[in-house]
Amino acid sequence: MTHRLAPSILSADFARLGEEVARVQDAGADVIHLDVMDNHYVPNLTIGPMVCKAIRPLVRIPIDVHLMVRPVDALAEMFAKAGADIISFHPEASDHVDRTLSLIRDLGCRAGLVLNPASPLDWLDHVMGRLDLILLMSVNPGFGGQAFIPAVMDKARLARRRIDAHGAAGGQPIWLEIDGGVKVDNIAAIAETGVDTFVAGSAIFGAPDADGGYATVMAAFRSELAGAAARAA
Ligand code: DX5
Ligand code: ZN
Repeated sequence: MTHRLAPSILSADFARLGEEVARVQDAGADVIHLDVMDNHYVPNLTIGPMVCKAIRPLVRIPIDVHLMVRPVDALAEMFAKAGADIISFHPEASDHVDRTLSLIRDLGCRAGLVLNPASPLDWLDHVMGRLDLILLMSVNPGFGGQAFIPAVMDKARLARRRIDAHGAAGGQPIWLEIDGGVKVDNIAAIAETGVDTFVAGSAIFGAPDADGGYATVMAAFRSELAGAAARAA
């Protein structure tokens, strides 16, 4: 299984955002994760499409926009125009989930659903064919630096089964991403549940190496993931 690291710039130094994005990309990020919070669906307020557009020319890898906003559709469109590659949203924040998923694909992006720790996997019923990504929250959305919620491990195993069954029936590949509290000391156990894409904010941006980059922490993540892959083989 291909494992992907998706640094969340939520914990980056926003006064130096361009440099931070370049550094984390040079350190081997596979995806850049953008946390969009609207002070309505979640209490925090972060960035809008202008910031996505500003970093787009610096980024060679997919930009993964995690919308924590209500309503969803208008902002999804703005982020698609601002250069997002993947757009995911929380289903309870959209009145018409199927329509929003279609809209995101029609805008030329890959579409994802985000499930909060207490949101059931039933949200995936009837829409698997419209999904490119399932994002499982392992913290309650709104803030970086929170502790990983262990109940999400079983949920990840169940989500992996759904994705594999969908693939076996001829469905398109779907990424399984996890977001919140991912650290060097738990990433291997999380990978063993079948997660393939790992968002990490504070663990990466809180750990610059001696050169001010993020290569050391990224290498530690990769080594843990390689260990998990070897055990699974
Ligand atoms: C929380 C965000 C996360 C957050 C993760 O609402 O969706 O992406 O930045 O931060 P850490 O890795 O610090 O838990
Ligand atoms: Zn996120």
